[in-house]
Amino acid sequence: MTCNIQTEMLKADEDIYIRITEELKHFLKPDEPLISGLSNFISLLKYSLKKISWVGFYINKEGNLWLGPFQGKPACVKISSGKGVCGTVLIQGKTIIVEDVDNFPEHIACDAESKSEIVVPLFIHGNIWGVLDLDSNILNAFSETDKNYLEKICSFLAETLNFNESLI
Ligand code: SME
Repeated sequence: MTCNIQTEMLKADEDIYIRITEELKHFLKPDEPLISGLSNFISLLKYSLKKISWVGFYINKEGNLWLGPFQGKPACVKISSGKGVCGTVLIQGKTIIVEDVDNFPEHIACDAESKSEIVVPLFIHGNIWGVLDLDSNILNAFSETDKNYLEKICSFLAETLNFNESLI
């Protein structure tokens, strides 16, 4: 039974990601300001995936991550390289799924209610432009399905928007 529920939830997430990807193709434009496209993208994620409590970008500037467009409660403004889940992804260049934030010693708790997290790097010309961070108040909310689709979506953003524009 539990297995069936999990399969159905993963399928539901997959359907949502497919719809998000289709919507992005229509409303992201390379000739519009980067901050506008990213802000709309974040809003689309927040209001499509009900399990998310917080979603946003941290933008890399000279090895530090700075808070970018986000939806959710106010959050830490600066994360140093190697600190927190975000700073670890900045160093490792790979997505991290945290099933239970209490078991990730480096986790930075911007919101005490956050229970699990996924952080995905966004690459521009081989360099990490920043990271996309999603939090949930549900334990173990993120799976390989989230990882696969979020990585594809980040690649799509990198190909579609004009990242030459500096946001910070
Ligand atoms: N938990 C993150 C910090 C950012 S907040 O979740 C918005 C981390 O450990 O890097």
